[in-house]
Amino acid sequence: MAPPVPRPLPDPDRLGFSSLAVHVGERLPGFDTKPITTPIYSTVAFEAPSAAALDGVFEGTHPGYCYTRHGNPTCEALEETIARLEHGAGAIAFSSGMAALHGALLAAGVRSGDRIVSSQDIYGATQALFRDVMTPLGVETRYAPATDLVAFEQAVGAARPRVAFVETISNPLLRVADLAAVVAIARKAGAATIVDSTFASPRLSTPLALGADFVVHSTTKYLNGHGDATGGIVVCSNREALPTLRQVSKLVGGILGPFEAYLTLRGVKTLGLRMSRQCESARRIAERLAQHPGIERVHYPGLRSHPDFAIASRLLKDDLAGAVVSFALGRAGRAEVFRFMDALRLCCVGTTVGDIYSQLLYPAISSHRALSPEERQRLGIGDNLVRLSVGIEDPEDLIADLEQALEACRRPAGAGARS
Ligand SMILES: Cc1ncc(COP(=O)(O)O)c(C=O)c1O
Repeated sequence: MAPPVPRPLPDPDRLGFSSLAVHVGERLPGFDTKPITTPIYSTVAFEAPSAAALDGVFEGTHPGYCYTRHGNPTCEALEETIARLEHGAGAIAFSSGMAALHGALLAAGVRSGDRIVSSQDIYGATQALFRDVMTPLGVETRYAPATDLVAFEQAVGAARPRVAFVETISNPLLRVADLAAVVAIARKAGAATIVDSTFASPRLSTPLALGADFVVHSTTKYLNGHGDATGGIVVCSNREALPTLRQVSKLVGGILGPFEAYLTLRGVKTLGLRMSRQCESARRIAERLAQHPGIERVHYPGLRSHPDFAIASRLLKDDLAGAVVSFALGRAGRAEVFRFMDALRLCCVGTTVGDIYSQLLYPAISSHRALSPEERQRLGIGDNLVRLSVGIEDPEDLIADLEQALEACRRPAGAGARS
C-alpha cells in the first residue's frame, strides 16, 4: 500500500501560531512501513485523497473512511477479527452489550406488532430491554425454557415470532440449551435466531456454525477480559444483513469508541489462553466445592450433576465448560452470604464476569434484585446462591480463599468482617 500523501500546507513561514499548532504535526509524510499492532485511530473524520474519492467513500463505491460513526479502522480491525472467530459474514461493534442486543433486534427486523420468544433463563437487563423498551414499541415477548425443547417449540409455534432469543450459557444457573435444535425450531416458524454468547465466547461455541442468524457479545466480558473497556458486538451469518446492521449503528449511534476497540482487540489476542486457563480452574474449583460440607449445591455444566452436562459436553469445545461456577451455601441466608463475601481476600466482590480477576456476585442483591424472593425461588435462585467468575489466578489460591471465607461465614456475626 502506498503511503498516504498529505495535503501540502501553505508556506509555513506565512502561517500564524494557531494554524501551525493545528496542522503541522498532521501533515508529516507517511512512512512506507506498517505498525505491527493496529493503532488507535482517534479521529472523528478522515481525509480522502480527492473530493471524488470522498464522494465514493460516502457512496460505498470507494474503500476508505469518512466519519468515525460510519466506520473506523481500529473498530473495523476488531469487527473483522470477531467475525472470523465466530465464522460470521461480518460484524459491527457497539458501545455496550446492551446496545449490541438492541442493534441485533432491529437488524433482525423486529417491528411493532412482532413477537419475540425468549429463553426464560437470561440476563436481567435483557429482560428489562424486552419489557421497558420493546413492549412500549408494540413488541411482545413470551418466555419459554430453551432447555425444554417441547415447551420451547410450543411457544414458538403459538407465537410465530420474528425472533427466537437464547443465551449459550445462561446466568446464573449456567443452563446450556441445544442450540442446533433451538435454531431448527425457530427456522421452521420463519423466525431468526439471536444468540447471546457472552458467557461462552467463540473459544467455546460458535452458534452461527449451528445455523443461528446473529450472535451477540458483551465484549465487556471475556473478549476484552481485563475489566477496562465496555463494549458489544453483533456478528451476522449473512452478508446481506450487514448493511442493515451498519445503518442501525450509524443512525442509532451507539458505536464503539476507537480506544475501547483497541483495548478489546488487544484482549482478544489472549482470549484462547485466558479462556482455557479460566475454564480449567473453574472445573477444579467446582469439583472441590462439590465436596465441601459447607456447600449445598454447585452449578457447573462440566459436572455430571448439572442437568445440561450431556449437551454442554457436545456443544462446548475441547471439554471446556465455561469459567463461571455458581454455588449455594449450605444452611445460609443473607447474613451468612454477606459474611462469606466480606471474608474473601483474593476474589473481588464485583458485578461482572470474564475478567482476569476472579469476581463473586450475589444475584439476590444485584443481577436479580428486581425480582421478588418468590420469583427468584421459582427460577432456582435462592438467597444462598452466589456466582463466581473465575479469573487467571492460581486455582489453589482461589480454593484456599473460598475455603477460608466459608469457614469465616460460620463464625458469629462481625467476627468475619474484612479488616
Ligand atoms: C449475558 C449478558 N449479555 C449482555 C450483557 C450486557 O452487557 P454490557 O454490560 O456490556 O452492556 C451482560 C452484562 O452483564 C451479560 O451478562
